[in-house]
Amino acid sequence: MFEGLRIVRFPNAGTACPIIGIGAWAPDRGEERTTRARQWLTSALKVGYRHIDTAYAYGTEKAVGEAIIESGVDREDVFVVSKLPRHHHGRVLESAQETLDNLGFKWLDMYLMHWPFATPETDPDGTPKPVPTIGETWAQMEQCLRQSKCEAIGVSNFSIKTLEELLKTARVKPALNQVEMHPYLAQNDLLAFCKEHDIAVVAYTPSGTDIVRNDPVIVELATKYNATPTQVILAWHLTRNVVVIPKSTNEERQKENYIDNLPTLEDEDVKKIDALDRGQRICNKPDENGLVWGMSATDLGW
Ligand SMILES: NC(=O)c1ccc[n+]([C@@H]2O[C@H](COP(=O)([O-])OP(=O)(O)OC[C@H]3O[C@@H](n4cnc5c(N)ncnc54)[C@H](OP(=O)(O)O)[C@@H]3O)[C@@H](O)[C@H]2O)c1
Repeated sequence: MFEGLRIVRFPNAGTACPIIGIGAWAPDRGEERTTRARQWLTSALKVGYRHIDTAYAYGTEKAVGEAIIESGVDREDVFVVSKLPRHHHGRVLESAQETLDNLGFKWLDMYLMHWPFATPETDPDGTPKPVPTIGETWAQMEQCLRQSKCEAIGVSNFSIKTLEELLKTARVKPALNQVEMHPYLAQNDLLAFCKEHDIAVVAYTPSGTDIVRNDPVIVELATKYNATPTQVILAWHLTRNVVVIPKSTNEERQKENYIDNLPTLEDEDVKKIDALDRGQRICNKPDENGLVWGMSATDLGW
């Protein structure tokens, strides 16, 4: 499987994924999550991507399943990740099945707890439901694994603090942790902690968007390597053996971001990029009250 592709192994799961995947987030407007998503995901599969990152919350699961069929690539040859939304922590098995039904799959290659906290829910009569702890939700994720709904389980948006909480009761360690990571948010301590626990790291918002792309150091290195700023940034992640899931709806940019076209950076240039770290979140950042989707950044360990 994934013959000829550079892969990252998951010691805690015994499986592996291609080091570069395509992100499948899409805005909730018009046909962005349906027809449009199907088109650009099909294009990514034709370019060569064999790893797709979606989530229940993205609304693109159906488009992912359809794109794989449309591309003619075998389901077995694509590593597909989806995620448990934070308002489904009280019904993990049902939510996982809903995700499989959306995709039209019998199994997922990787199922992630999207966030380390649950959104409080109420019964139909308005009575608040008990809010599951991280450990309780993870136990249900382990149940998904036992029921063969997925081949591996992992987490997303976890810090050292929330990973330590999860590891207190986990019977299966997470295979990976998907977090925001780019040159302005290198997360070196988290990367080292994950390595110590055999947890692979996946970078979301890996390009750092135009904010990082326009950094003078990145622009200068792009000129040196006759590459684009995004290619330099993605190449930097690969030197750290971090999995990247850049999203592009454009076939030319999908090719540009693909592993075959990335430069190999010299050590001194990797160090120049390392030095850009400033702990700056770009995608999911705390609001003026220090909250991220209603959860305190302190409790998140961010
Ligand atoms: N776990 C989580 O909580 C979480 C949160 C955020 C994201 N994610 C995942 O990570 C994936 C990627 O993250 P992201 O979309 O935030 O960030 P990203 O992939 O770093 O950036 C995407 C943006 O960059 C543009 N772009 C892509 N390649 C480019 C290139 N070569 N040159 C110039 N512009 C380029 C895209 O526009 P075009 O489409 O026009 O090319 C798009 O606007 C998502 O799709 C999702 O699967 C997960």
